[in-house]
Amino acid sequence: MSLREMKLPRLAYNWISGIGIIIAVVTGVLMTFLYIIGIFAKVTNPYLGIFLYMVLPPVLIGGLILVPLGMLKTWYRFKKSGVASYPTWPYFDLNKKSHRNAALLFIVGSIFFLIISAVGGYEAFHYSESVNFCGKTCHSVMKPEFVAYQNSPHARVSCVSCHVGPGADWYAKSKMSGLYQVYAVLADKYPRPIPTPIANLRPARETCEQCHWPEKFFGAQQKSFNHYMYDEENSYWPIEMLIKVGGGNPESGLTSGIHWHTFIANKIEYIARDERHQEIPWVRATNVKTGYQTVYQDTENPLTEEEIAAAEPRVFDCMDCHNRPSHIYNSPDHAIDEALYTEKIDVTLPEIKRISVEAMAELYETEEAAWHGIANRIKDFYSEEYPDIYNEKQDEINEAILEVQDKYQKNIFPEMKVRWEEYPNNIGHFGNPGCMRCHTGNLQAKDGSIITRDCNSCHTILAQGSGERSMMAKSMDGLEFVHPEDIDEAWKEMGCHECHSGTQP
Ligand code: HEC
Ligand code: HEC
Ligand code: HEC
Ligand code: HEC
Ligand code: HEC
Ligand code: HEC
Repeated sequence: MSLREMKLPRLAYNWISGIGIIIAVVTGVLMTFLYIIGIFAKVTNPYLGIFLYMVLPPVLIGGLILVPLGMLKTWYRFKKSGVASYPTWPYFDLNKKSHRNAALLFIVGSIFFLIISAVGGYEAFHYSESVNFCGKTCHSVMKPEFVAYQNSPHARVSCVSCHVGPGADWYAKSKMSGLYQVYAVLADKYPRPIPTPIANLRPARETCEQCHWPEKFFGAQQKSFNHYMYDEENSYWPIEMLIKVGGGNPESGLTSGIHWHTFIANKIEYIARDERHQEIPWVRATNVKTGYQTVYQDTENPLTEEEIAAAEPRVFDCMDCHNRPSHIYNSPDHAIDEALYTEKIDVTLPEIKRISVEAMAELYETEEAAWHGIANRIKDFYSEEYPDIYNEKQDEINEAILEVQDKYQKNIFPEMKVRWEEYPNNIGHFGNPGCMRCHTGNLQAKDGSIITRDCNSCHTILAQGSGERSMMAKSMDGLEFVHPEDIDEAWKEMGCHECHSGTQP
């Protein structure tokens, strides 16, 4: 059957429409093919989705638009040339059976096309909201966030639940900034590491609070912190604490704790000196019930009047404390403690904590360099310092090496320059200032009151230490903190993070 016999309108016989038809047919077939592959082969390659839902549909529509465009152009050309019998637009007459059939075909076809577009649009929306799309498409860029996310308590929560949230406006906003990000990646203009905090992240009230909300009463949370020292025996030093998380609905009367004070009873605003919000010299607390305001200022290094007037105070929300709910980059100190505690590293290997932390903390250029560097560092150490143990405990040493490599791979990403130092975690105050950004005891109001540094206002210690130095609380008041190493009273005046910055103090 020749083209002419198919009775296409004569105006459609031109280059532009022809190309349009070919493009439309080819992409249509390709899309059907990819769609079927996607369903049956359970392929999770992110590029398949991008191709199917984002690249091909505009190409298909573009092809379809070319058809009438070509016809229009031909029509104009004939009309202008002044030929008497130029091909006319197809006319339409419902009295003719063939025209009725054609109309029916057109209507059914259009409905079919609309349904396919709706399904496709829905799939495209879903796809652009999937963890695969966010985490894997620009794999090298998002790798740190994606890997840390998979090892976090939120591994089953999609990226967009926190980063976009419900509603069409934020969907559109995120896709607009996404366009710039695609450009930044293609042009290799993105920053390494990606700066934190995210300047325009959606307020926590609208994202986190889909699943957690401050009025929910959490009570206290018992938490164990398992530390190992940097001595020859890798001495174990656990700390068992009750953290007064609290919260609660004022209606029900059950109100107390960290969430209550900083959220429900008070509205807190602050001004930070640095971009990462680690240095906070000015805080304003507004009592929600009475409206009474207290301004706390750094006693040693206050902001000037001009600086305060120029600044825009930030309202303290969930993410000011929980800034790493999902992308947690552990320090070597913490990661190796975890490996020792879970017995992935044999604690009887002398000095294994120190040497593992050193091997992990070293600056390597690539992941592969780290892989070799860690292995060599640990092997050389034992063969030189403890040759007997090196010969006796080959297996244990090799297991330790594998574990340190694994911890490295999950927490440090040299290609993106991602390390624990770059992403301070604001919960607690051990490795980072965290709560002590405001609770150092240096922030004071005009009436002399300070933001408390009292160790027992946030938690009580139930037990600490091990072996001969093990201490258990005898009442609900808990124990006074005992620092395992003799550092005089330094821990009372300084922040823990000033010495414990993620490697050996
Ligand atoms: C539980 C909520 C949550 C989930 C789920 C989540 N994120 Fe995040 N993400 C955050 C928060 C909170 C921050 C840091 C905000 C801040 O400090 O400004 C962040 C920061 C980031 C950053 C900036 C760099 C950084 O680490 O601070 C990137 C990039 C990112 N997330 C990507 C992703 C990707 C990709 C996924 C899915 C694989 C994902 N996120 C899932 C909450 C989440
Ligand atoms: C789609 C639901 C969802 C969203 C949105 C969400 N979370 Fe979660 N969150 C969870 C689930 C599920 C858990 C795991 C609970 C568990 O393990 O007991 C969790 C656990 C937590 C925990 C306890 C972690 C731990 O170590 O046990 C914190 C803190 C937390 N979320 C904070 C946040 C913050 C902050 C945000 C906003 C940036 C957020 N969540 C957004 C569902 C969500
Ligand atoms: C002043 C700092 C601070 C703020 C602000 C804050 N939290 Fe928390 N939250 C904590 C601390 C501390 C814990 C105890 C867990 C820990 O130490 O890891 C906690 C625990 C939690 C937990 C786990 C509770 C449990 O028992 O497992 C969830 C969920 C949570 N917070 C959600 C939120 C949400 C949602 C917001 C915002 C509405 C919020 N938090 C605001 C400090 C804060
Ligand atoms: C403003 C509240 C607050 C104050 C004041 C405070 N802490 Fe903490 N502290 C926390 C929170 C929250 C955590 C839990 C961090 C986490 O979940 O990782 C913590 C964790 C700890 C830990 C365990 C850290 C680790 O990683 O092993 C110790 C030990 C500790 N605090 C001791 C103290 C001592 C000693 C003082 C008094 C000088 C003190 N804290 C004052 C909030 C506070
Ligand atoms: C931006 C500054 C800021 C940060 C950071 C901060 N707080 Fe606070 N917090 C305050 C202020 C201000 C108050 C005092 C409110 C008032 O006037 O009663 C307060 C009060 C509290 C109280 C009540 C203390 C009492 O008994 O009077 C607790 C508990 C608390 N914060 C816990 C925490 C924990 C835990 C963290 C870290 C995860 C933290 N805060 C981080 C500003 C901060
Ligand atoms: C003046 C510096 C300094 C300060 C401040 C300090 N420490 Fe330490 N800390 C040390 C030294 C030194 C060691 C011994 C190193 C080792 O062998 O573990 C140590 C060891 C520890 C250990 C044993 C295991 C480990 O992780 O090294 C714990 C737990 C600990 N400190 C907790 C704290 C807490 C909690 C605070 C804050 C309340 C604090 N320290 C403040 C210097 C300090």
